[in-house]
Amino acid sequence: MQTFETIQSLQKELAKHRQAGKSIGFVPTMGALHQGHLALMQQAKAANDFLVVSIFVNPIQFNNPADLEKYPRTLEQDKALLQDVGCDFLFAPEVKEMYPEPDKTIYQFGKLATVMEGAFRPGHFNGVAVVVKKLFEIVTPDKAYFGEKDYQQLAIIKALVKQFNIPVTIVPCPTIRENDGLAMSSRNVRLSAEERTIAPNIYSILKKAASLRNVLSPEEMEKYAQKAFSEIKAFDLEYVSIADDINLQPFKHWNDVAGARIFVALELGNVRLIDNIRIF
Ligand code: PAJ
Repeated sequence: MQTFETIQSLQKELAKHRQAGKSIGFVPTMGALHQGHLALMQQAKAANDFLVVSIFVNPIQFNNPADLEKYPRTLEQDKALLQDVGCDFLFAPEVKEMYPEPDKTIYQFGKLATVMEGAFRPGHFNGVAVVVKKLFEIVTPDKAYFGEKDYQQLAIIKALVKQFNIPVTIVPCPTIRENDGLAMSSRNVRLSAEERTIAPNIYSILKKAASLRNVLSPEEMEKYAQKAFSEIKAFDLEYVSIADDINLQPFKHWNDVAGARIFVALELGNVRLIDNIRIF
């Protein structure tokens, strides 16, 4: 695996392979890699001639400075995992390489960006869109892989690609979980031993709520889940939301939509966790 820290050196390398007609699969990450990231990479590796991974903790998508400060950084360990998964090129730029000047671009994603994470993390998706658009322009991948763990982010990326006619195929990948159901996340390492035993309740509550689809209305299911989350004292609930799986908007009747998911964001200790699962 070759590591690149500058845009120019990576572009020079990739141009050779592109000219030779090779396909490029791309997995953007913020590092602290786990099995969820690696699953995206395995899929990308299998479907493309070359695998490019980026590791960049993007400061402009953190609305909370403490969260940015505490974000785990494990580059040497990440490199070993990338070797194992067969990554060809790692792009690991410094902040000043990506942002020589502050980037003030404002994107419009309409209602997609005003609900859930968009409502609770102002500016977050704009920061994600800025960095992902830049990364797509640098890497020019044929296919790029994103996890359903961050389902709203995936929807924003699809909208970004459509809005700017970026010639890349976005490939969604299922959420990878620990054996006890907790969705894998770089932030999980910040949970205390006790918090870690409580965290799997997130998935079990979502599953229980979703299983009540034939007996509860969407509103009742949301209330049911809200109550279940608030009964666990260690959880500081931000939102539970049932939404259309395409436009991410709430709806009244199950018949109103072709597919629905249930989403949650909460704090456990001082770690913010999100998860979501398909209802139908
Ligand atoms: P990061 O949180 O590092 O995640 C990188 C990719 O891995 C995202 O597509 C995310 O959805 C996926 N992922 C994380 N945990 C997963 C899990 N348990 N199962 C499946 N996929 C999982 O998301 C970001 O970084 C950033 O916002 C980024 C897109 C890199 C822009 O900075």
